[in-house]
Amino acid sequence: GKALRVAVAGLGTVGAGVVDLLARNRDLIAARAGRPIEVVAVAARSKNKDRGVDLSGMAWEEGALALAKRNDYDVLVEVVGGSEGQTVEAVEFALKAGRPVVTANKAMLALHGARLGQLAHDNGVALAFEAAVAGGIPIIKALREGLAGNQFQRVFGILNGTCNFILTKMRQEKREFVDVLAEAQRLGYAEADPTFDVDGIDAAHKLSILASVAFGSPTNFDAVHVEGIRHISALDISYATELGYRIKLLGIAGLTPNGLEQRVHPCMVPLDTPIAHVEGVFNAVVAEGDAVGTSFLQGRGAGAGPTASAVVSDLIDLARGHNVPAFAVPPAAMKALPAAPM
Ligand code: NDP
Ligand code: HSE
Repeated sequence: GKALRVAVAGLGTVGAGVVDLLARNRDLIAARAGRPIEVVAVAARSKNKDRGVDLSGMAWEEGALALAKRNDYDVLVEVVGGSEGQTVEAVEFALKAGRPVVTANKAMLALHGARLGQLAHDNGVALAFEAAVAGGIPIIKALREGLAGNQFQRVFGILNGTCNFILTKMRQEKREFVDVLAEAQRLGYAEADPTFDVDGIDAAHKLSILASVAFGSPTNFDAVHVEGIRHISALDISYATELGYRIKLLGIAGLTPNGLEQRVHPCMVPLDTPIAHVEGVFNAVVAEGDAVGTSFLQGRGAGAGPTASAVVSDLIDLARGHNVPAFAVPPAAMKALPAAPM
């Protein structure tokens, strides 16, 4: 069949990972998608940087907006980051031009998800973001598709790879916080501004997206109670171990009689629960549904490969012709839940 033509904005950890994966698994991806998926154009800031991937044959644009304005592509992949400015303009431009968008940008979705979901709906195109939550774990598709018959009561988990990596290495290798953070940055796990990771903001962005998909309520990032891991010491971690616990940064969203509760904070997790044993860059999500009971999914939560895996899954969906509502229900069917007092 006719190739799905992809424009990739951003060629950092995730963007280069996507270009690499599409090339490496070209034939199997084409077989599963029913047609080839080809990157036709890319954009980043500096043209001459070596990104370790072959960009030959792809058009180059300086900036996401210029890329979005081209008319020779079918899908925009937005892996630049940032919740304001050119990134958002590029996404809006593509959607208004009737082109679907695949993004890994949880900050943008947490703050503008409802509006962008509406824009996608109004223009009859998809806004897909499997990569925005829990990296390689297909949790958006799990909630929206495989578990779609359930009323969820609670969805929670380890949603930030950098924090889980830091907490794990501090315990296993008795290392200092700043030293492990620097390693997470070198490995491409951390956000451009790593305070988003260590202060719990990134996990809160993801939680608000998960809650929206699970509970059919527009993202409400401002309602998330947020506390990070900056104040956790090596001593706290060793006391927790002595008492039979692991310290984990959890994001928890649940229905209460008073509304939707959303919180991110370090938790003492008993060693006899599976989530206590999710270590390093791994994430995990527990979904409690009325029919399925408790489901537990785990996988790598950050880095080039896991994130590209999720982005490419969205591209394959689009190549197959899927066009499902971004947040599981059409915008008109969303119901804003009040924030439960905490
Ligand atoms: P990087 O900082 O590694 O890459 C960002 C890329 O965007 C760079 O290539 C940069 O160009 C490019 N860029 C910056 N400004 C513009 C612009 N105006 N127009 C076009 N390109 C631009 O980030 P990541 O790849 O780590 O993250 C990208 C997105 O994916 C973010 O939203 C992040 O939150 C999300 N994400 C990241 C994960 C990870 O594990 N890293 C996992 C899941 C989601 P140049 O290279 O020339 O500087
Ligand atoms: N900085 C994020 C993390 C990237 O460490 O989890 C994945 O979203």
